[in-house]
Amino acid sequence: MGSIDTPTITENGSTQSQAAAPSGGDHKSPASANGAQVEVSPEPEGTKKRRSSMLPLEVGTRVMCRWRDGKYHPVKVIERRKMPYAVPYDYEYYVHYTEFNRRLDEWVKLEQLDLDSVETVVDEKVEDKVTSLKMTRHQKRKIDETHVEVGHEELDAASLHEHEEFTKVKNIATIELGRYEIETWYFSPFPPEYNDSLKLYFCEFCLNFMKRKEQLQRHMRKCDLKHPPGDEIYRSGTLSMFEVDGKKNKVYGRNLCYLAKLFLDHKTLYYDVDLFLFYVLCECDDRGCHMVGYFSKEKHSEESYNLACILTLPPYQRKGYGKFLIAFSYELSKKEGKVGTPERPLSDLGLLSYRGYWTRVLLDILKKHKGNISIKELSDMTAIKAEDILTTLQSLELIQYRKGQHVICADPKVLDRHLKAAGRGGLEVDVSKLIWTPYKEQS
Ligand code: ACO
Ligand code: ZN
Repeated sequence: MGSIDTPTITENGSTQSQAAAPSGGDHKSPASANGAQVEVSPEPEGTKKRRSSMLPLEVGTRVMCRWRDGKYHPVKVIERRKMPYAVPYDYEYYVHYTEFNRRLDEWVKLEQLDLDSVETVVDEKVEDKVTSLKMTRHQKRKIDETHVEVGHEELDAASLHEHEEFTKVKNIATIELGRYEIETWYFSPFPPEYNDSLKLYFCEFCLNFMKRKEQLQRHMRKCDLKHPPGDEIYRSGTLSMFEVDGKKNKVYGRNLCYLAKLFLDHKTLYYDVDLFLFYVLCECDDRGCHMVGYFSKEKHSEESYNLACILTLPPYQRKGYGKFLIAFSYELSKKEGKVGTPERPLSDLGLLSYRGYWTRVLLDILKKHKGNISIKELSDMTAIKAEDILTTLQSLELIQYRKGQHVICADPKVLDRHLKAAGRGGLEVDVSKLIWTPYKEQS
């Protein structure tokens, strides 16, 4: 679990990701790593020439790059741009750290790259062609699902690939939301008029977004919302959950999707928010209800999904809110008398959170239970889909297949060991504080 980056909150509330980076090993000092701008010691003419002949680096180049931990890590160049007032070859490069999640992709300066380590100069045009020809229907659909624009059916594979290329570079670098300034993780398809903004200012209550701070200040004087629109369905201490119907609150629903996409990579975002309910978790004080995170849920899911997208805003992550949101989604399923499962694909952090939640819930029951128990019974008690129970218990090696049947083998010592490894329990949902009836279509 330690190999995932752990976003932390700095004093002013902004977030930064501190990756638990693999040991990069000793690489040469940055000054000697590229001779293009800073020359420390005289270098052979041949080396200098070879380096400058590489510049500017092609998109697709693989090279080592000095990261915020001071170490060098392998990257792939995703995009490049000329610096304003640049001398020849003075480009910035948008790189993907191949060992890390895409949320750590960033613009870097030439001086961070070790030109001696340039592996191959990939001809992106050739690569594009090959990839688009090889693209399967499944891949096509995956790409399609990462964008909110509708009507992609008519696009050919090459255009879809081009479209995916477009989303590879983060458009908005930071947002301001309430008292937090937050670094974004991924591309989000804001309307074109926001394309030239690196930073956006969100009203933390109605989630309208603006390009300038003064616009937000003006808005805050007029905006009379102090909590998400919709019904408060849960309150316990300072925590409240609001249910927002996408059909009744289209603008809010869309704003929430734009905001969420900044932190969700491969998730479906629809303009058609009518089909979803949004469960928005807030920490409340005398200034209002401040959004901590949310999950969305289809009003009718044929695949028994009880959650479409889940997000804890970075300043609130690793405090147990994610597991609270997951637990909440299962409490709703219990009230509906259904089993549920999250929509796939799960992100790396999503999978860790779900695995942790499933492990804790199932093993707590197994520990207390006397006698045999079946997966069906576990599913009935928890509203967790049988397949998820099976894969969780299998991954913990608690399942054996005997005489054509799955048998759960639960040695108390083994259970305790797994429970310890599953992390903290997260914030508890107090079911007695949940006042909710399942969604019914109103005519
Ligand atoms: N590094 C290592 N482990 C982590 C990290 C991390 N950065 N973040 C979460 N985890 C694991 C840990 O096991 C943690 O439990 P622990 O703190 O007891 O060890 C567990 O996940 C959950 O921690 P929480 O504090 O309950 O969850 P959090 O509030 O951080 O929210 C969430 C988890 C929602 C996945 C958050 O990381 C997030 O919003 N990520 C961006 C969006 C995303 O990826 N959403 C899921 C997409 S899949 C889907 O929507 C169906
Ligand atoms: Zn507002």
